[in-house]
Amino acid sequence: MFTNLSIAVVAIFLLNVVLAADFDGSRFAWYSSESGQDFKSNVPIGNGRLGATVSGNTIESLVLNENSVWSGPWEDRVNPASKGALSNIRNMLIAGKITAAGQQALSSMAGNPTSPKAYQPLTDMTLDFGHRASGISNYTRWLDTLEGTAGVSYAHGGVSYSREFVPSYPHGVLAFRFSASGKGNLNVKASLVRARGILSQKATVNSAATNGHSTTLSASSGQANNPIVFWSEARIINSGGTVRVDGNSISVTGADFVDVFFNAETTYRHKDATAAQAELKRKLDVASSIGFPAVRQAAIKDFSSITSRVKLNLGNSGSAGTQPTPTRLTNYKKSPSTDPQLITLFFNFGRQQLAASSRDTGPLSLPANLQGIWNRDYSPAWQSKYTININLQMNYWPSLITNMAEVQKPVFDLINLAIPRAEAVANKMYGCDGIVMHHNTDLWGDSAPVDKGTPYTIWPMGAAWLSSDAMEHFRFTQNHTFLQTTVWPLLQKTAQFYYCYLFNWQGYYTSGPSLSPEHAFIVPSNMQDSNRQEGLDISIEMDNQLLRELFSNVIETCSILKLTSSECTKAASYLPKIRPPGIGPKKKEILEWRNEYDETEPAHRHFSNLWGVYPGAQLLSQSNYTASSKKFLDRRMSSGSGSTGWSRTWAINLYARLLDGEAAWRNTQQMIQKFPTANLWNSDSGPGSSFQIDGNFGLTAGVAEMLMQSHSGVIHLLPALSKSVGDGSVEGLVGRGNFVVDVKWKGGKFLEGKILARSGGRLEIKVQNGGVGRVLVNGRKYDGGGFETEVGRVYEVRAE
Ligand SMILES: *[C@@H]1O[C@H](CO)[C@@H](O)[C@H](O)[C@H]1NC(C)=O
Ligand SMILES: *[C@@H]1O[C@H](CO)[C@@H](O)[C@H](O)[C@H]1NC(C)=O
Ligand SMILES: *[C@@H]1O[C@H](CO)[C@@H](O)[C@H](O)[C@H]1NC(C)=O
Repeated sequence: MFTNLSIAVVAIFLLNVVLAADFDGSRFAWYSSESGQDFKSNVPIGNGRLGATVSGNTIESLVLNENSVWSGPWEDRVNPASKGALSNIRNMLIAGKITAAGQQALSSMAGNPTSPKAYQPLTDMTLDFGHRASGISNYTRWLDTLEGTAGVSYAHGGVSYSREFVPSYPHGVLAFRFSASGKGNLNVKASLVRARGILSQKATVNSAATNGHSTTLSASSGQANNPIVFWSEARIINSGGTVRVDGNSISVTGADFVDVFFNAETTYRHKDATAAQAELKRKLDVASSIGFPAVRQAAIKDFSSITSRVKLNLGNSGSAGTQPTPTRLTNYKKSPSTDPQLITLFFNFGRQQLAASSRDTGPLSLPANLQGIWNRDYSPAWQSKYTININLQMNYWPSLITNMAEVQKPVFDLINLAIPRAEAVANKMYGCDGIVMHHNTDLWGDSAPVDKGTPYTIWPMGAAWLSSDAMEHFRFTQNHTFLQTTVWPLLQKTAQFYYCYLFNWQGYYTSGPSLSPEHAFIVPSNMQDSNRQEGLDISIEMDNQLLRELFSNVIETCSILKLTSSECTKAASYLPKIRPPGIGPKKKEILEWRNEYDETEPAHRHFSNLWGVYPGAQLLSQSNYTASSKKFLDRRMSSGSGSTGWSRTWAINLYARLLDGEAAWRNTQQMIQKFPTANLWNSDSGPGSSFQIDGNFGLTAGVAEMLMQSHSGVIHLLPALSKSVGDGSVEGLVGRGNFVVDVKWKGGKFLEGKILARSGGRLEIKVQNGGVGRVLVNGRKYDGGGFETEVGRVYEVRAE
């Protein structure tokens, strides 16, 4: 956005003195009051490893996270009875003894204990400025989605105060500056506060004030054996005033301004306490010696180099877009069409949240979990794990199409870490080589089954889905090194498991015991124990789609890398023997299970059998499957699905892929009307329910998918543009083949586009529904079909 960084720096300082109405409604979330007790009004920022939420309360209370603080060490949870029970369970399922098979699967195959580790908060930091809430006026706090920073400003006793919060990826710390107008007006007492597991805590005033003063806190995850231990420190540097130790806190009185640098390091990434503490100190020494302005400048330059790659304009909201965010959210429930910029803000917020919660922080980077890196609970919802039957994958849906492929690095770090665990589970549970993962994992790559219920526990498909995401990373980036060194070994190990695990049923290579994630069916009358609700079965539709994808990806990789190994021919022999999708005889919908069972929840939140519509695409290449997928989706939505925020955003992506722009847009509006919390987070069923970050990412992906698609080998401009989005533009989306796409439209019609061929290769273009008249590419008539591009060349597309 800013070509000259010094302009950006000046602009931010000016923010403290401009009127709130100047906040760009596509870029800033902002508030005219404190969060108070509403955690989900706190403004969330992060540097990819350390997260913070800013309350802006009179006494600031930052909730801090470090992404490797979890509840304990890895443990082997594999059920030793599994291997011996497998064939009997399969035979029961084949014979229609569904309930008996389910019970035996739970007793012989569920893990012990049933859960991997839970994500934990790091510590809170309270900052007491000695102000009274009743004395505060002229209050503003904000999140800048472009620069990834947060701020608070207000007046108290005739003095203007401001708080700036800057997460720094380059320096690996969080950096804050607190200032006051006039001289010597700033008092602040800084404390680290944790409810559990504290090992030591201390405040130190350093006589060489340039080194800063510090308050430190070390704590453990509380497990008796081999806990995760962390060390954290707030380094406090005052300009003017006096400093003293106050218990475990540092109190600064009469300063002009105060800078705070914060870091935490854990035993997850360091071999012992000495190494962790040395790294803690190293980062803080570097940051404090170069000082807040330089740390801030580098942080903003880095953050906006990612976020500025995409610019979206869905129309201007005028005065509706200049209101504080909570007012906009309220107004949006009544009148969504008056504030189209709110969707743009959500789109930008999704990208800010992803850049803030998932970066390559070196070996053992960790991806964004169910709550990103913004959890305050010791017993978080669903342990705030990595749920890999949809949620972790959804977290990364916007990453490739919105031009931030590098944020995926932690996912591949986690997969690499998981491989030895997943090999051990394949061997011990199934007697197979290769890798298997079930429906959740944690920071250790735990791959055993999780929880204990027939609709979710025994689902041996997690690695198959993750391997397809690795292949997509290649398709978008065209990074052949990545294909060779990450994708190919992962595909090999994943396929190797299924060559052993799949069994022959009715002439097909079949999965089972397995399930359609988290859903159950009514056992039909021609099976034993009919009318019961069960989840476990064989030959699940989603499994078959994932298997087809896997074997196709092996074949495609063999062809790109010119490999001729037996693994290539083996995949080719398996592919045609995966059961094709079924269409139900009664409902004419794509089946979810091997039979047209009655579902227990017609409004179920997962759309697992539509995996091949989005994020996959295999159901879109044959019209019978596309039509029966649409029929299924329409019925499920009219039954009340889209009932969680993330489910609603999956529906947006599905409708976009089914080229129903009106339904995609309507569901986007409904998502924003129903689910967001005050700080724009996605929730499970509304602001009072659990926060889960996946829906934010699903929404961002869905908006992109309405404007550009590339799964069919064609760069499709405006495939699912709603008539409601009259004029607009987007710049910087990425299509498969590594094409960077800009597109403009007016009155609902395509106007012009630019396609940059970052990697060269064949380019085929489609515009809207193909019926918008002829198109010119670089001034020449384009009548369809592909053409070879040159690396680095831009292809201009115009309506004739
Ligand atoms: C309120 O804050 C704005 C900037 O945010 C400033 O221009 C104005 O002078 C302040 N008013 C008072 C009464 O402090
Ligand atoms: C390509 O992939 C390799 C291996 O993962 C990685 O080291 C490299 O940074 C990637 N290149 C780019 C341009 O991202
Ligand atoms: C769908 O169409 C394809 C291609 O015509 C065909 O091979 C397949 O059998 C059809 N499937 C069903 C379930 O009708």
